[in-house]
Amino acid sequence: MADWKFDKILHGGDYNPDQWREYPDILKEDIRLMQLSKCDLFSVGIFAWSALEPKEGEFNFGWLDKVLDDLNAAGRKVLLATPSGARPAWMSYKYPEVLRTNADDSKNHHGGRHNHCMTSPIYREKVRIINTELAKRYGDHPAIVGWHISNEYSGECFCPLCVDEFRIYLKKKYGTIEELNRAYWSDFWSHRYNDFDEIEPPFTRGEGSIDGLRLDWKRYCTLQTVDFMKAECAPLKEFAPEKPITANFMEIFGGLDYWRFTDVIDVASWDSYPKFRGDDSDYEMMLNTCFMHDLSRSFLKKPFLLMESTPSLVNWSDVNRMKRPGVQKLSSLTAVAHGSDSVQYFQWRQSRGSFEKHHGAVVSHEGTENNRVFSEVAELGDILEKLKNVAGSMNKAEAAIIYDWDNRWALNFAQSYHKGDKQYVEVCVENYRALKRHGINVDIVESDSDLSAYKLVIAPMMYLMKPDTDKWIREFVQNGGIFVTTYASCITDENSLCILGGFPGRLRDVLGIWAEETDVLYPDQKNRIVFSDGTEYDCGFLCDIVHTEGAETLAVYGDDFYKGTPAITCNGFGKGKAYYVASRAENKMLEAFFGSLINQAGIYRPAGNTDVLPENVYVTEREKDGVKTIFVMNYSTGKKTVTLKNAEYTNALTGEKVSSSVCLEPWGISILQYE
Ligand code: GLA
Ligand code: ZN
Repeated sequence: MADWKFDKILHGGDYNPDQWREYPDILKEDIRLMQLSKCDLFSVGIFAWSALEPKEGEFNFGWLDKVLDDLNAAGRKVLLATPSGARPAWMSYKYPEVLRTNADDSKNHHGGRHNHCMTSPIYREKVRIINTELAKRYGDHPAIVGWHISNEYSGECFCPLCVDEFRIYLKKKYGTIEELNRAYWSDFWSHRYNDFDEIEPPFTRGEGSIDGLRLDWKRYCTLQTVDFMKAECAPLKEFAPEKPITANFMEIFGGLDYWRFTDVIDVASWDSYPKFRGDDSDYEMMLNTCFMHDLSRSFLKKPFLLMESTPSLVNWSDVNRMKRPGVQKLSSLTAVAHGSDSVQYFQWRQSRGSFEKHHGAVVSHEGTENNRVFSEVAELGDILEKLKNVAGSMNKAEAAIIYDWDNRWALNFAQSYHKGDKQYVEVCVENYRALKRHGINVDIVESDSDLSAYKLVIAPMMYLMKPDTDKWIREFVQNGGIFVTTYASCITDENSLCILGGFPGRLRDVLGIWAEETDVLYPDQKNRIVFSDGTEYDCGFLCDIVHTEGAETLAVYGDDFYKGTPAITCNGFGKGKAYYVASRAENKMLEAFFGSLINQAGIYRPAGNTDVLPENVYVTEREKDGVKTIFVMNYSTGKKTVTLKNAEYTNALTGEKVSSSVCLEPWGISILQYE
């Protein structure tokens, strides 16, 4: 693995000089503006295939030579992109095989982007050729610090080539058709297969009723994308083995299991576009963003890159509201606060025409530095230079949330509970929120991973159990960990076959309970969770009806025919404790409950608080070589005062010694360092 190491927080963005080849003065002007705004890292060539290979086998690298040489001379760094996210028209017309086929069996025409088949040998070969040319020519170019692979991998292809590959994948996975029939419970509705060749992926008008098949298709699409990525990277690894590789991910994207990319990437990165309203609700909206920041850091347990963000507004939202003054600074530094070693924008220069001409950019159509957006970017450039010693530092977390794509898919495929989306992501983020209200660092982990680094692990709606999930959890609790799981957990095995013998399945003994039934509530219906001291909270959505089998009852239901039965239980197991939260409770209950678990586990709180933070405030901490950097962020339109533990704080931006009482302006942030 190539290492990604920088001694500063990088600043920059997507740069598309390929669109400006007929404007020869622009490059020079761009470089002037880059220097002015202290932007030093640019992703170049992301969609530049038709500029690089205008006709089949005819390459045109002159413009890129100049761009890279000039950027290098000006001290700028480049992530060179492979252009596979979109392709020239000549290729689609000559080789229609490269075009994607949709789930309804319709074949796409040329157009848009992300519109290719990941299996097509011709597409793979064309990608290999262009990537080889790029790697040979630029592999040791001094401006290039890494590779930006394709762009936001996504999508599924149902063409005959992909159907064949899917069958090969299944054959390899199950060995025999009997084994597959067993995993798919295929006697149901007479769905037994005699041969792998009889299997089709879940076409819209085809097989949508076998959960195991739908899950396998999702897994296959991820693995095929990873395989495509590996093929893309092969020439880069051959000609430039020391240059690290990244692929830009999207926010908690449902289409691909990003955990499977972790052995291909050297540094994680993602594109972040929170929908700011500019009011106090932005705190809640930012939870998804912060969750994704923490997930991105957790992928490799290393700092990540904020690969894209908008300096002002996007152009694809329902309402393309611009960021209020100060919000671009706050949201960018929020990424840094959670472990990003860069702040990058889409895009450097606003394109003149086509689909994204109204998307925000550092350099607008007006073209100068004399405007609000540019000034705010330049101000951030100054700030990032002052945060030099934050680069490479880590957020150490003692609490983790289990988040898993197989589980998300399996839950959504299940004809059960509420129809359609089962709100798995929302529930994960709700649980995350309760931890963040206490200002602790949080990691996000896969469901079958070693948990020994943590004191507290929360597994919301862990419906699907992978083969080793219970082993890791059992070990974790046995050794003194505090584990929490919820309603709709431990229901199926990895093929989505229900676990026999009572829920919560393989964790029944660890949790010391039996969940006999699950009540599904209409959105306007609720129950109550009542603690023994009389404190009570609303709950709803799902209510498991639970019997204790050794666990202690901490709270009971307040209503309905199961009034008085356990709603929250705690079971001692080995040296640790396993809690079951049987229903989805209001935020206040989770805040209070997790607060008590954080205190019980002795989890480190960077701010030194013992209860929740002031409303709308986030706190994180990064650490390197004994120097701690605490970030205190105010996502509200009002001022906030936050009292930190006693320490000798230095303001990381001004170098001044400061007290432990922090006053934050609206949308304000305070970055303090101490040892
Ligand atoms: C994504 C893409 C970019 C651009 C932006 C616009 O993140 O990667 O190419 O389209 O969205 O917000
Ligand atoms: Zn295909």
